[in-house]
Amino acid sequence: MPTATATRPVAVIGAGTMGSGIAQVFAAAGRQVYLGDRDEPSLKRGLASIAKSLDRLIKKGTLDAAARDQVLARIRGATAGLPLSECAIAVEAVPERLDLKKVVLRELDNALPPDAILATNTSSISITELAAVTGRAARVIGMHFMNPVPVMPLVEVVRGLETSEETVTRTMELARDLGKTPVLVEDRPGFVSNRVLLPMINEAIFALQEGVATREGIDTVMKLGMNHPLGPLALADLIGLDVCLDIMEVLHRGFGDDKYRPCPLLRQMVAAGRLGRKSGRGFYDYSDS
Ligand SMILES: NC(=O)c1ccc[n+]([C@@H]2O[C@H](COP(=O)([O-])OP(=O)(O)OC[C@H]3O[C@@H](n4cnc5c(N)ncnc54)[C@H](O)[C@@H]3O)[C@@H](O)[C@H]2O)c1
Repeated sequence: MPTATATRPVAVIGAGTMGSGIAQVFAAAGRQVYLGDRDEPSLKRGLASIAKSLDRLIKKGTLDAAARDQVLARIRGATAGLPLSECAIAVEAVPERLDLKKVVLRELDNALPPDAILATNTSSISITELAAVTGRAARVIGMHFMNPVPVMPLVEVVRGLETSEETVTRTMELARDLGKTPVLVEDRPGFVSNRVLLPMINEAIFALQEGVATREGIDTVMKLGMNHPLGPLALADLIGLDVCLDIMEVLHRGFGDDKYRPCPLLRQMVAAGRLGRKSGRGFYDYSDS
């Protein structure tokens, strides 16, 4: 029997890199999507990136023009006044700042119907702490999509201390309806993905700092020896070195264990503004691309 969760509209708040991808996958799965952003230019950029992503699928031959138009027609974007009281679920994808997320979650809690799930795409903030600012902690959950959302099959479904079993079951079903593979994880710093990935990247930076090998050498070992598609230093440049540092700080603070101390070279690179691809320079130089 389809649950109400499976038919009512979905709200996605924040139309950036992640929010636009999340809106796209919900619309592609046949859901009406309300996409909210705080300002018009960001919303326009988000809607344009969805159209571009669908056009890429047409070029690849996996989507036709009529299907693209249907997906786009299911997404309504606005900076205010979205009918959130119709929604079965809202997914928050605003920037990774605790104060901002708390404000947005409070607003969503007030606007959504009482049975709606309030999901957050946070990659490092405690679900339990975010849930505590709402009046529906049992229905707050992490839905940690991976970038780029339309391509990556994983969703980490993160259970906060107060998240109910029903919310977990509904969210796992929802992720499967999107064609994703959900993995249930507990609300601990870094969940599973960042807890395993970031210390590996941090260790690669220590190896570089100590001169164990060159940057190319370190990346080649992990690519050819471990079958990783990207070496850890190239991956750090792609993620953003500032984001890597933030997540290492979360792990270090959250566990109180020095095994998660950020590498001094990582701190130095961030202090110098060498943030990776987005700034044109990180461990590698991207000034030509
Ligand atoms: N980028 C990634 O690779 C990635 C991967 C997994 C999870 N995440 C998480 O997803 C979340 C969003 O990250 P992103 O990379 O998409 O960020 P982003 O900066 O690309 O997008 C955030 C969007 O939120 C909008 N926004 C800001 N304040 C708002 C408000 N009060 N109300 C509505 N909209 C608001 C901004 O205008 C912007 O369009 C973060 O929590 C991040 O940690 C990011």
